[in-house]
Amino acid sequence: MTDPLPPTRRNRASLTYKLRYAARNPDKVRGYLSRMSRDLKLRAVSRNHVAYYRAVMKSDAARNPEAAVGSRSHERWLALGRMQFDYLHEHGLKPDDRMLEIGCGNLRAGWRFIDFLDAGNYYGIDISPDILLAAQKTLVRHGLRDKMPYLALVDDLKLEFLPSGRFTVVHAHSVFSHSPLDVIDECLANVGRVLAPGGFFDFTFDRTEGAEHHVLREDFYYRTETLTRLAERHGFTARFMEDWEELPHGQSKIRVTRPESRPES
Ligand SMILES: C[S@@+](CC[C@H](N)C(=O)[O-])C[C@H]1O[C@@H](n2cnc3c(N)ncnc32)[C@H](O)[C@@H]1O
Repeated sequence: MTDPLPPTRRNRASLTYKLRYAARNPDKVRGYLSRMSRDLKLRAVSRNHVAYYRAVMKSDAARNPEAAVGSRSHERWLALGRMQFDYLHEHGLKPDDRMLEIGCGNLRAGWRFIDFLDAGNYYGIDISPDILLAAQKTLVRHGLRDKMPYLALVDDLKLEFLPSGRFTVVHAHSVFSHSPLDVIDECLANVGRVLAPGGFFDFTFDRTEGAEHHVLREDFYYRTETLTRLAERHGFTARFMEDWEELPHGQSKIRVTRPESRPES
């Protein structure tokens, strides 16, 4: 039974989709059910989405930190990190940029950014202490201690503890795909303060052209215009990155800038 809809029209939360998927992938049903039951338990004891997703990451990272950030194998982990790095490098990243990576995970791309940037110019934040411990191991493995990156645990995206006008590049890959709209709204409401004049904020998201939905409150699907309008409400200009669509990655990418920003590259 093949799915008649293209990926951007599928509603993964609908019963029809789930039944079709189960018929096509009977070996995955057991895993889905056990994830569903784990997530129900974690949601019941979590006070908000961040606490819930932190618990999901704890459980996933205990098994395998690379799988916890979404990579099926070490080769995929390396390739996904390279794709993020190459794209940003081709779209304006320079060694003297000061970068904030939101949801840095275990530095799948972060270690490449750290390696490229001048010492002290990378700041990674994440809600998961478990994945930040894995990030430290990635740093050691890649011999990047002397680059003096900062890694900080956060509980929200108010960014209150970070200096105003500091970061020339802000990056969030595969973070809004795990975030309800109020978390994205909080981020967009606050990221402008920490952006340097002329800076930009790139983020990926799971795109739907149909109804917005989520699966187990782990994966969230948004229409492009929902996110571009939200960014505009917070004073940004938002640009859908068409050329990112050509890469073998299921998500889409938006770049937001202040209207007075540096020329696009
Ligand atoms: C799929 S992983 C991607 C990690 C990294 N960006 C990469 O591409 O390898 C998502 C990461 O975002 C973090 N995260 C999720 N929601 C967050 C939030 N509201 N604030 C900061 N980090 C968040 C998770 O803990 C996890 O490490």
